[in-house]
Amino acid sequence: MLQGTAQAGVNIALIKYWGKRDAAANLPAVGSISLTLDHPGTRTTVTFDAEASADVFELDGRMREDTRVAGVLDAVRAAAGIKLRARVTSVNTVPTASGLASSASGTAALGVAAWRAAGLPLDPLPPALVELVRRGSGSAPRSLLGGLVELDKEAGDVRPLLAVDAWDLRMVIAVLTRGPKAVSSREGMTRTEQTSPYYAPWVAHHAADLVEARAAIAERDLPRLGAAMERSTYRMHACMLAADPPLRYWRGRTMDVLDAVDGLRAAGTGAWATMDAGPHVKILCAADDAERVADAIRHIEGVHAVWVSRPGAGAVETEGC
Ligand code: PMV
Repeated sequence: MLQGTAQAGVNIALIKYWGKRDAAANLPAVGSISLTLDHPGTRTTVTFDAEASADVFELDGRMREDTRVAGVLDAVRAAAGIKLRARVTSVNTVPTASGLASSASGTAALGVAAWRAAGLPLDPLPPALVELVRRGSGSAPRSLLGGLVELDKEAGDVRPLLAVDAWDLRMVIAVLTRGPKAVSSREGMTRTEQTSPYYAPWVAHHAADLVEARAAIAERDLPRLGAAMERSTYRMHACMLAADPPLRYWRGRTMDVLDAVDGLRAAGTGAWATMDAGPHVKILCAADDAERVADAIRHIEGVHAVWVSRPGAGAVETEGC
């Protein structure tokens, strides 16, 4: 019996990825920059078992069918030259498929757990592992690394920009729903690519935001990074809103939290907002401001929970679940 367990934190994109240049290889149309969080994300155990006749996948105590899990397992089997079927047991600490990056932490944890279960080495990070994780979910390779991370659009590769403890940032997350999103990122991206007149301009203007964010990170300039992050977020959502039919992941409460972030900034607190394919608002700020930011949004109607997350490590092998 071959077994491996891994844990991976969620990552939140500061400079967003939306759109694919090669759907079959799941290669992005634009690069992205993210922050991996210490929020535990997903823990997964993979057991390749000679007794098993089929792959089975259990997520949060319920059996699931998931072609992406099968794809990751097949790629690991091919890399290791094994044919054994696997049992996969996974626990998510964030709501699944809700725009809280559970697919990134889930796919990264699955990839590392399967890779180790098959006895393959993790260090240095193997390009074949990065690729199979990326094929599972476009944002997932970023959860393989800790701190600030860039995913390159050419090779689909990841590189660290700044280590976990190099900048004491916080991401304050306003959790605005527990339910899954109406339209998956994959479907939303296809619809945007095919129908939004703003898709081409989004791709054309994107590189400048990456350049700006890299420079801000190198100088630890939070207002500059925050401004680049908000620009990238609003441009991505503008391009989604112009799809046909429109993709609107926000709720009224999303706007209420965004107003509160603007209010904080107007009153002198450095806080900047980002949103993904869901209604939640993630607020970037300095460690010293995190409690003030959390207090400003906690009592807004429709805010289910507020998490204050720190920069976290990438996916790691760990003890079995
Ligand atoms: O990796 P996916 O298919 O879940 O897409 C992620 C897309 C966004 O979260 C909206 C942006 C990003 O870069 O994470």
